[in-house]
Amino acid sequence: MYLLVAALRLLPFLNQGKDYMKQGLCVALVLAAFGLLASAADKAAPTQVERGREVFLSSSKVTACATCHAMAGLGTAVAPDLTTMASFAPPRGFVATMRMSMTEKVLLVKTADGAFPAVLKQEQSDQSEFFDLGQTPPVLRKLTAKQIVSSERDQKWQHPPASVEYTSQELADLVGFLKWAATGSQKEIKPSEVD
Ligand code: HEC
Repeated sequence: MYLLVAALRLLPFLNQGKDYMKQGLCVALVLAAFGLLASAADKAAPTQVERGREVFLSSSKVTACATCHAMAGLGTAVAPDLTTMASFAPPRGFVATMRMSMTEKVLLVKTADGAFPAVLKQEQSDQSEFFDLGQTPPVLRKLTAKQIVSSERDQKWQHPPASVEYTSQELADLVGFLKWAATGSQKEIKPSEVD
């Protein structure tokens, strides 16, 4: 509606204007139309994206993904950012990674008080910051070099979703939500794509 009004208002200018003006206005109109479409799409998020968002935020079966991952402005960025993986991995590959039984980045940090599984946030010569995955939600801990007895790859830590049964529909919705958050794509992911 707005567009129509705007277009009608511009008509007299279009008639008088020079050619390059007309072209410029047309480009502007097309861009405005895309802008409106995009914002309309934002408001009416498709159902799969909404369902997947619920799976991402839900802690009914397992610690919610959002406890450790941040996507679409939701959640806490403790663990690796999922944008790249969600953009490029085929749905089945994404799910396989999510269910990994071996992790690479998780460390077992030992101090005089005990050991905890951790993700390194940042390391300086005299002090390091870790997210303590032994607590839910993970807690940021700062340790001086002297406090760290050792820190090596944790071979026992389990990625929470590895041991949880999701339905194919839940997995498809989750992947659909993450792909939407990463790329804006609203392509429906079918349950058969994650089986
Ligand atoms: C307790 C924290 C925690 C929770 C909860 C969690 N993750 Fe993770 N996730 C991690 C950590 C830590 C890694 C990094 C593992 C590694 O490679 O060492 C990771 C890695 C991943 C990766 C691989 C990323 C990459 O680029 O290699 C994917 C995909 C993933 N998580 C998806 C999920 C999804 C989906 C959920 C919810 C169903 C979830 N995670 C729940 C902590 C968590």
